[in-house]
Amino acid sequence: MIKLHDLYFKPFISEQELDATVQRLVDEIAHDLKDEIPVFIGILNGSFMFVSDFVKKYPKPCEVTFIKLASYEGLKSTEDIQRLIGLTQDLTGRKVVILEDIIDSGNTLEEVHRIFKNENVDDLKIATLFYKPEAYKKDFKLHYVGIEIPNKFIVGYGLDYNNLGRDLPAIYQLKTTQHMTNLVLFGPPGAGKGTQANFLKETYNLVHISTGDVFRFNMKNNTALGMLAKSYIDKGALVPDQVTIDMLSAEVDKNADANGFIFDGFPRNEAQAEALDKIMDAKDSKVNAMIALEVEDEVLVQRLLERGKTSGRKDDSDESIIRNRIKVYYNETAILKDFYSKQDKYFGVDGVGSVSDITKRLNTVIDKL
Ligand code: IMP
Ligand code: MG
Repeated sequence: MIKLHDLYFKPFISEQELDATVQRLVDEIAHDLKDEIPVFIGILNGSFMFVSDFVKKYPKPCEVTFIKLASYEGLKSTEDIQRLIGLTQDLTGRKVVILEDIIDSGNTLEEVHRIFKNENVDDLKIATLFYKPEAYKKDFKLHYVGIEIPNKFIVGYGLDYNNLGRDLPAIYQLKTTQHMTNLVLFGPPGAGKGTQANFLKETYNLVHISTGDVFRFNMKNNTALGMLAKSYIDKGALVPDQVTIDMLSAEVDKNADANGFIFDGFPRNEAQAEALDKIMDAKDSKVNAMIALEVEDEVLVQRLLERGKTSGRKDDSDESIIRNRIKVYYNETAILKDFYSKQDKYFGVDGVGSVSDITKRLNTVIDKL
């Protein structure tokens, strides 16, 4: 992530991808122009880096020049009339290709067309490295388009934010801060995680994603991922991380407008924790905290045995099975406790007491995030 003035930007398009895109545009244009000697015209300032890389790759002789749009000075009208400066060459009868860094609303392009109307060029083609289809309001044809991008502000590779960022060799996209609260909720079996997750969900208006529920839903409804997961489970094998990650990621995507999420039963290992960071990053958000309900083993065993008496769940009736489940929990979570502690995101909460006392303790932690 980088900071320019007051804003944060995250990596969006790599140098390699830019290079491949410029090469593709070169190939398309060189193919269409055959042996004509074209005049490539870059629109300053944004296109300087693109034009430089473009002409270096261009396989045949070409001319290159730059123009800049500038507002008429002293003009009182609200209409923002622009003129091109730097257009000194006679372009009569020439094949001209405009090289634009980015086409957004299309206003700049409209000016370009207005000005070139009087130039008697033989052919005028428009090439743009980036194009924001959601923002484009004109209907001039774009003959060559590098990469279509969403309507979000980008910097780098010639493009600036208040004059900074033009020098960056790759493209970065504005991070739009969403104030989400994303919690990873942990607790050994019997800690009261389900009960507390329900309260948290209500209080903070969060979406509760329980891995167990997500698996059962996908398998019951025979989704592609559910069937894939089932094929491993039926063989008695562990479901690969990527399948679990894809299911969780789909679940997050389903709730695009959520205030945040409670992840329950996920992540289970470091690879999944890293994947979760990526999923959240894609939403310009992050995991705020891992909250673990802490309850002594003896208390857990008693609680589960009590529960077993009424629920009839077999795994809640046998003390050695219970103790083993608790042990597995600590073995599994140790790594995650480290992972989140290193980022100061681990919060242990005393899980012994009345339900409402525990809820209050959790709220105290979350309200400070
Ligand atoms: P248009 O006239 O709205 O098509 O916008 C074209 C000009 O706006 C470009 O030449 C850029 O100078 C600027 N612009 C549009 N979108 C971006 C962006 O995402 N980052 C940086 N500059 C942009
Ligand atoms: Mg420009």
